[in-house]
Amino acid sequence: MSSETLHAPREQLSKQTLTLHYAITSLMEDLEAVDWYRQRADDCDDASLKNILLHNMREEMEHAEFGLTAIPLAKKCAPEPVLVIVLRF
Ligand SMILES: [Fe+2]
Repeated sequence: MSSETLHAPREQLSKQTLTLHYAITSLMEDLEAVDWYRQRADDCDDASLKNILLHNMREEMEHAEFGLTAIPLAKKCAPEPVLVIVLRF
C-alpha cells in the first residue's frame, strides 16, 4: 500500500507513524467527500439526485466520525495532542 502524501522516505517511518498517517489521510478524504457532496447537492436541480447526494454527504460525515475514533488509537503510540473536530451540520 502506498501514499502520495508521505513527506519522508517510507522506510524511515515507524509503523506507528504510518498508522497515524492512514487515520489522518482517511479522515481528510472523508471530510473532502462531505464538501464535494454538499457542493454538488447545492448545484443540483433534480430533487431525487439532490436527496441522494445529501444522503451520501451524511454517510461521509459518519465515516469521518469513525475516523476520528481511530485517531486516539493511533495516538497511543504518539501521545502528542490531536486536534478534536466536532461535526455539526
Ligand atoms: Fe468515506
